[in-house]
Amino acid sequence: MWQNVVAAPADSILGLTDAFRADTNPHKVNLGVGVYKDEAGRTPILQCVKAAEKLLLEGESSKTYLPISGDPRFAALVQELLFGEGSEVIASGRAATAHAPGGTGALRVGGDLLKKFRPEARVWVSRPTWANHKGVFTTAGFPLGEYAYYDPASRGLDFAGMVADLEKVPAGDIVLLHACCHNPSGVDLNPQQWRQVAKIAADKGWMAFLDFAYQGFGEGVAEDRAGIVAFAEAGLDFFVASSFSKNFGLYNERTGAITVVSPSAAETVVAMSHLKSTIRVIYSNPPAHGGLVVTTVLGDSGLRAQWLEELAAMRERIKAMRTLLVEGLAKRGVPGDFSFITSQRGMFSFSGLSDEVVQWLRREKSIYVVAGGRINLAGLTRGNIDYVCEAIAQALEG
Ligand code: LMR
Repeated sequence: MWQNVVAAPADSILGLTDAFRADTNPHKVNLGVGVYKDEAGRTPILQCVKAAEKLLLEGESSKTYLPISGDPRFAALVQELLFGEGSEVIASGRAATAHAPGGTGALRVGGDLLKKFRPEARVWVSRPTWANHKGVFTTAGFPLGEYAYYDPASRGLDFAGMVADLEKVPAGDIVLLHACCHNPSGVDLNPQQWRQVAKIAADKGWMAFLDFAYQGFGEGVAEDRAGIVAFAEAGLDFFVASSFSKNFGLYNERTGAITVVSPSAAETVVAMSHLKSTIRVIYSNPPAHGGLVVTTVLGDSGLRAQWLEELAAMRERIKAMRTLLVEGLAKRGVPGDFSFITSQRGMFSFSGLSDEVVQWLRREKSIYVVAGGRINLAGLTRGNIDYVCEAIAQALEG
């Protein structure tokens, strides 16, 4: 069957991890995949997660199927996190949430659902965007378009370009937005800009699909939901794909959610019915463990407080690494102003390193960076930062 088939290329992000694992250089550093590392270079299991798992191990009494959309307690807690306690969306019953296998699973469920009711639509993604966005929505059958987002000259947001492009998106099309900690650039909108974008959606009639994979990694759980709140307040239809991979460190438990927000509770009932029929034919119902962990942590005030502390510690460590990287490059006289790295948010920074430098770093130094120059700051530690700064300085000296 495969004799005349050309092999598929390795994934641009997860393929790097495979190459990193196979690398025998003891100094190797993985700044590729968006996975958090602590000062010891480990991806830890959060203490609150360990505590919840202990409770689950003792108290869990059955492994029977979950409902197609997952445990309703999980959905309620997800909504509280997305919209905030006391949100009008929750009180009005305007959101349908289903537990999905990770943020990617949520995006794909949303894509398949949208394809049924918006078969002619185009999906608009930011320039640049997470490589897998294109794969997910193309595979769901959508043609893609791009809107301006990152401005390489200012290394910030091209908001004027973004607005101009979003104003041209036809009614009925779908615009994929990064709710916070834009991947790959680390450049975000402020709350006022979010309200402006929601207003364009309302005026032009396109629909937003917000990818919310990094809640809590920008400024905080509440601050990071500004985009969600702007769309919720506008009373529009929109979708949210959320993930607990990063903020709970539940990467391999594949724990996320797809939330469909509608203008009314009656429409939400219909949306939920179609969400369920979409899920049934893909994976039937979700894997339980990660959702149970999240439900246990968020449902207990002590564990929830511990989670917020652990999340803040991850966020602050990454910010400290941003500062150390900028200082380390300046100290070595690396040409150029890298201070933009400290104003970008979340795990990533668009480093400005060319693909040639990215390849050199991998070949000569076993430092792994995603093509395009995206650096995962969470892969830096006080132990490897000098090695990385030295290597970048050497690479840029040519
Ligand atoms: C990333 O962008 O590195 C993460 O979202 C992990 C992934 O699945 O690509």
